[in-house]
Amino acid sequence: MCGISGYIGEKNNSIKIVFNILKKLEYRGYDSSGIATIFNKKILIKKSIGKLVNLKKIILKHQIGSNISIGHIRWATHGKPSRNNAHPHTDATKNIAIVHNGVIENYIELKKKYCINDEEIVSDTDTEIIVHIIKKNYKNDLFSAVRNVLREVKGSYAFALICKNEPDRIICAVNESPLVIGVGDKENFIASDVSAILKYTKKIVFLKNGDVAEIKKNNIIIRDIENNIKNMQIKTIKDENCSYIRKNKYKHFMLKEIFEQPYVIKNILKDVICLNKNKNYENEFKFFKNIIKNISYIYIIGCGSSYHSGLIAKLLFENFANIRTEVDIASEFRYRNPILNENTLVIVISQSGETADTLAALRFAKNKKCKTFAICNVMNSSLSREADKTIFTKCGQEIGVASTKAFIGQLVILYLLVFELSNKKGIINNHEFKKIIVELLDVPKKIFKILKNTKSIINIAEKIKGKKNFLYLGRNLNYPIALEGALKLKEISYIHAEGYAAGEMKHGPIALVDKSMIVVFIAIKKSKVYKKIISNIEEIKARNGTIVLITNEKNIEIKNKSDYVIYIPKINDYLSPIISIVPLQLLAYYIGVFKKCDIDHPRNLAKSVTVE
Ligand code: M6R
Repeated sequence: MCGISGYIGEKNNSIKIVFNILKKLEYRGYDSSGIATIFNKKILIKKSIGKLVNLKKIILKHQIGSNISIGHIRWATHGKPSRNNAHPHTDATKNIAIVHNGVIENYIELKKKYCINDEEIVSDTDTEIIVHIIKKNYKNDLFSAVRNVLREVKGSYAFALICKNEPDRIICAVNESPLVIGVGDKENFIASDVSAILKYTKKIVFLKNGDVAEIKKNNIIIRDIENNIKNMQIKTIKDENCSYIRKNKYKHFMLKEIFEQPYVIKNILKDVICLNKNKNYENEFKFFKNIIKNISYIYIIGCGSSYHSGLIAKLLFENFANIRTEVDIASEFRYRNPILNENTLVIVISQSGETADTLAALRFAKNKKCKTFAICNVMNSSLSREADKTIFTKCGQEIGVASTKAFIGQLVILYLLVFELSNKKGIINNHEFKKIIVELLDVPKKIFKILKNTKSIINIAEKIKGKKNFLYLGRNLNYPIALEGALKLKEISYIHAEGYAAGEMKHGPIALVDKSMIVVFIAIKKSKVYKKIISNIEEIKARNGTIVLITNEKNIEIKNKSDYVIYIPKINDYLSPIISIVPLQLLAYYIGVFKKCDIDHPRNLAKSVTVE
């Protein structure tokens, strides 16, 4: 995680520019932040703990004119959030300042090797050691000192450094952590992602693993660690929506994004079935149908909510397209020995396209010669640049840390891929395919209906907000929805919640059930597991658990088996996950609001998890 920013150029408000870039990167972490600049031949550091507003107060107090600065927003990995652990870090003589995103795995060995004394070190971070070692290697050339030290550094990093003796350049280095250079006119920028600097320039250099860059106001040179000059490709970024996103009438981005979900579905469907004469997704679907010809099985990889959408897709691919499908959490997949070859299609799912584990899983799959396909929300993200092909969910920027509309977008794309494939294989005919599309087109209306009636969900949220433990139970397609519902509650309200397969509950978790346990069930009337889930509800009722039931409207037969009911519109079972998740998102949201939690910036989390 962590975000890096930097500016060098003619303007002497570099601190403001670097701060503004950090603002765009706040989704990557918000434990602390800091900026280093060169002023009067000295390195000056301004730091603050907590969100960026705190740093803003400090930099406004000291208006410093400087044309070179680097900045950082932190998500703590090594060392708790504190002023000392906040970046930038400097060597003891304050000659060099560094900001870092990633994890240095061998910093303890390096500390020993270079005999760095504990007295020299002010933080608990893995980063600070690196700046001390660079200082030891420094012989009036920061560029070569950095390259020398990097030969010994193990781990993931995007670094940016400045040196008070060399106020005309920023040095950057990259390995397994993203960093881009924005190329301007007599000025250059750096940032952890493209969208953060698009306000300043659309000309972008994507740094690659092993790149060490020297960035001056009029010039950029990229070398490898061995000092060989590398080719530099400047890409012009188009089609990026740079507009400032507002909450409008909504109290939080999360609520706004929940309410945007019907439009997300409409937009995807409109483009896919060419209602607006745009053949926006044509290439992606063609690509998918072409590569799948020689594919013997699919692996779907993701983290968090993206993993949950993959779990649903597995059931759909196997059921409707008759293709063996495995799903894995990215951080597990890459350290196992999965059976992969050129006939495997690896589908990586990520809202941000920057999740370190998902990116590493993609690279791992590519090394094994698998075909790769990404489902991603953020254009120009690392994942979308590296996968063989990417299909974008086009949900618009998702700001709330808890994923909502991006999850729905992923689901809709996955449903379409499954049914396209099923149709192509002749498992469903054209008529059936069209019928499915018509049913999908009806989903936004059903979600609008849920969103119009949040009162009952608010009432339930108020009644159960004080409870300490929640179980979310579902079966088949709604088992991943149980996992996703529990994840939303954990993130937003800090209440302990577990998602479980309802049938598995009697193998252990049922021991937890008493009247203080809230058990949320998803019971879809026409589903083949409906009767089974009714039995599971009875089992919980018999043990005095408090039941919150999500079921279809007019399903009164099980009303008296539950303490609270949330009705959702009637829907065919196979599509039910797209709407059953909505009341669970709202329930988590309102419980979080009643508990006065920081909804859009939950503690300890970041929107994009860019460390392993
Ligand atoms: O950007 P990604 O989809 O790769 O992110 C994956 C997870 O970090 C993400 O889904 C996370 O679990 C969310 N906070 C869930 O709401």
